[in-house]
Amino acid sequence: MKNFDYCNPTRIVFGKGSISRLPELIPSGSKVLMLYGGGSIKRNGVYEQVVSAASGFEMVEFGGIEPNPAHETCLQAIEKCRRENVNFILAVGGGSVLDAAKYIAAALKTDCTDPWEILTGEAEVNSAVPLAGILTLPATGSESNGNSVISKRSTKEKRAFGSPHVYPKFSILDPETTFSLPQKQVRNGVVDAFVHVCEQYMCRTGESRLQDRFAEGILQTLIEIGPDTIKDSTDYDKRADFMWSATMALNMLINQGVTQDWSTHMIGHELTAFYGVAHAESLAIVLPGVWRFALEHKGNKLAQYGKRIWGVSTPQEAIDKTEQFFQSVEMPVRLSDYEIDADEAAAKISERFRQRKSVFGEDGLIQADTVGDILLSRA
Ligand code: NZQ
Ligand code: ZN
Repeated sequence: MKNFDYCNPTRIVFGKGSISRLPELIPSGSKVLMLYGGGSIKRNGVYEQVVSAASGFEMVEFGGIEPNPAHETCLQAIEKCRRENVNFILAVGGGSVLDAAKYIAAALKTDCTDPWEILTGEAEVNSAVPLAGILTLPATGSESNGNSVISKRSTKEKRAFGSPHVYPKFSILDPETTFSLPQKQVRNGVVDAFVHVCEQYMCRTGESRLQDRFAEGILQTLIEIGPDTIKDSTDYDKRADFMWSATMALNMLINQGVTQDWSTHMIGHELTAFYGVAHAESLAIVLPGVWRFALEHKGNKLAQYGKRIWGVSTPQEAIDKTEQFFQSVEMPVRLSDYEIDADEAAAKISERFRQRKSVFGEDGLIQADTVGDILLSRA
């Protein structure tokens, strides 16, 4: 096990009716920006619950954060926060709203000419306006981590930053707020959480037997309840298991002390940036390609995963089983399913990584040319 320094400062308030606890959670005297997306919270009653619970606070609103939140929209929210002297941000929605809140919170306190410098690494985040989340879509883990992924529409870029300063102070997770999710979003959430675990798990055996068992426990739970909770939104207990699994998948517990990969996410973000496929959809296309490419490198871990999760004996079968799991929840796994030309995608995306001199995956296994080969294998 590698050395580590672990602190997750996000307080999780979980369960039915938890939004009513807002008054004890938001610091008194806060001027709050309530940040939300395209309006789902106005259709499922969450907006009313928040406004009523937070009625004792001075609050301004900013709606319209889009899926794969746009830098351009966040700039408007930053302006509003400055104008209104906001000192607390409450994100109400899915990962996109939470990520936007983190970007806005960091930009308000970061010395830079253009906040995009936070995403390119040119500006360092040394502090942020405090923020919190009310999560309505289990998927990203953003409710309990310090990561944010922002897209610049004008240049078709999608970049991530991470900082300990943007962990939410608290996140409220009420599974009932997710009952209104369309099946497709739940499917995406199950696959995103599954792939988060894989990115942190599928490298080496024997680095941490405990982290391995935590990771395998999350995968097994997602496999057990995923298909059911996609079909039946009203089974509270299964939805609760799903919500907690998605948080645990990326709250930085299972990656402590172990080697991580993340190349599926890096390549997937480019598929979203260039072609607009949803985040989880991009992952289901890329993951089997990365694993087949790294079959030898990841062989021992794939074998452990295959045996413990799927009861199969070879790494190849373990990958096939994973692909079949995605397909069993009606998640497409090929570029052609989205009418994306594999040759074009391979050329564009490997060129972008070449320009950025990107090297990723454990041991720098994945480079620009490799990405091209992986994408061609997913035609
Ligand atoms: O915008 P509204 O109207 O709210 O509708 C949203 C949106 O259209 C809808 N939705 C959310 N909760 C709902 C609901 N509809 C009905 N009922 C509800 N309860 O769902 C749609 C998708 O929402 P979004 O927030 O975009 O989805 P998700 O949570 O999957 O977030 C995806 C974003 O997170 C990033 C992704 O790259 C992508 O930009 N990620 C963030 C990570 C992190 N911060 O750690 C890690 C991930 O790997 C990921 O990269
Ligand atoms: Zn993800």
